[in-house]
Parts: sequence; C-alpha cells; structure tokens
Amino acid sequence: SHVVQADYVKSSVRTEDCPSDGLPEFALVGRSNVGKSSLLNSIVRRKKLALTSKKPGKTQCINHFKINDSWYLVDLPGYGYASAPQELRVNWDNFTKDYFLNRSTLVSVFLLIDASIPAKQIDLDYASWLGQNQIPMTIIFTKCDKRKKRKNGGRRPEENVNDFQDLIRGFFETVPPWIMTSSVTNQGRDEILLHMAQLRNY
Ligand code: GTP
Ligand code: MG
Repeated sequence: SHVVQADYVKSSVRTEDCPSDGLPEFALVGRSNVGKSSLLNSIVRRKKLALTSKKPGKTQCINHFKINDSWYLVDLPGYGYASAPQELRVNWDNFTKDYFLNRSTLVSVFLLIDASIPAKQIDLDYASWLGQNQIPMTIIFTKCDKRKKRKNGGRRPEENVNDFQDLIRGFFETVPPWIMTSSVTNQGRDEILLHMAQLRNY
C-alpha cells in the first residue's frame, strides 16, 4: 500500500469534468481549515503537492491526484467557511454534494473532523447528510497532536473523539470506521493507506 508516485491531474467544478478513466477514488471533505490538504500531503509524503494555508478557503475545486497510476486521492473545498462570499459557498456546497451523489468511482468519502476541539454543529449536519444519503464514509480525526492543557479548559483529542462518535451514532445503520491522525507527526498515515487498499480490493 506504499505511495510510489503521486501526480496532480486536474481541477474541476463539475462532476462531469472529473477524470473519466474509471479508476477508484477517495475524497477528503471537512470543515475549512480542518487539514484536508495537509493530510493529503502527509499520505503521499510530499510537502506541497496539495496547497495548504493558515487561512480557510484555500481549496476551491475538486482536485484529483493520481496515486501509483492506479487510484485517486481527491482534495475538496471545505464547508463552513463563514467569511467566504455567500455565492461562492453555495456553489462549493452544490458541486461537492453533486459529486458525492453522482461520482460512480467514489469508493469512500473521508470526513475529516478536528479532534483538538469539541464537535461543531456543521460537522454533525454533514455527517447526518452523508448518512441519510448512504454515502460510504470513513471518519478521519485530524490534529491529534494538539493537546490542550486541562486547566485551560481544553479537552483531550480522545474525549472529543468519543463525544463525536456518540453524537453521530444515530445517523448510520452501521457505525463508520474511524482513524486518528496528525499531519504534523504523520500519525495514522499507514493506517489510512491500509484502509484504502482494503476498500479498493473489496
Ligand atoms: P481549506 O482548503 O481552506 O478548506 O483547508 P484544509 O482543510 O485543506 O486545511 P489545510 O490543510 O490547508 O490546513 C489548515 C491549517 O491547519 C494549516 O495551518 C495547517 O498547517 C494546519 N494543520 C493541518 N493539519 C494539522 C495537524 O495535523 N496538526 C496541526 N497541529 N496543524 C495542522
Ligand atoms: Mg485545502
């Protein structure tokens, strides 16, 4: 399940414009700034393949990256970026949801959730939407390296993870698989690659 080769292929804003070679793919989705592009770079061991930023709203298209000439990793715009112009946000939301519903080669959506803070309503809403539409998904908890001090009112990633799982249980017939990760320490990288390999051979 090693990544030998990773190439940027194209950016699309419509499902119809995505690559048509029929290879299986996995899409990274999550709140703006949750670490989608950073995780992609961590998975492929390249610092700058997908562009990242401290400011939310960096990724604005459906970006396809071809891995080992045999499958795709797909970087998507984040949801919940309040400062982006309304028109732009609605547009991102429309084309990403159309992509989830109609992209036949999509094996699983990887929903990224920030483990360093308590769950946000918009994340619960998104998980609920994916569940309602029966879109296969995996939950990826990000930023597990960020450990806030308890005395400062911070909570441990493990606590946020447990709370989130309790909150979404009702949205799914079977609880989605989940993986804890960090793009800083590369925690979870091998587990994600193994999980993706298993899903591809299914
Ligand atoms: P959009 O494209 O704007 O939706 O954001 P994104 O989800 O792609 O986030 P991006 O990867 O650009 O990262 C956002 C910020 O979070 C950057 O400053 C990253 O350095 C930081 N970040 C991402 N992953 C981690 C992580 O695992 N740990 C820590 N500590 N910081 C992270
Ligand atoms: Mg991004």
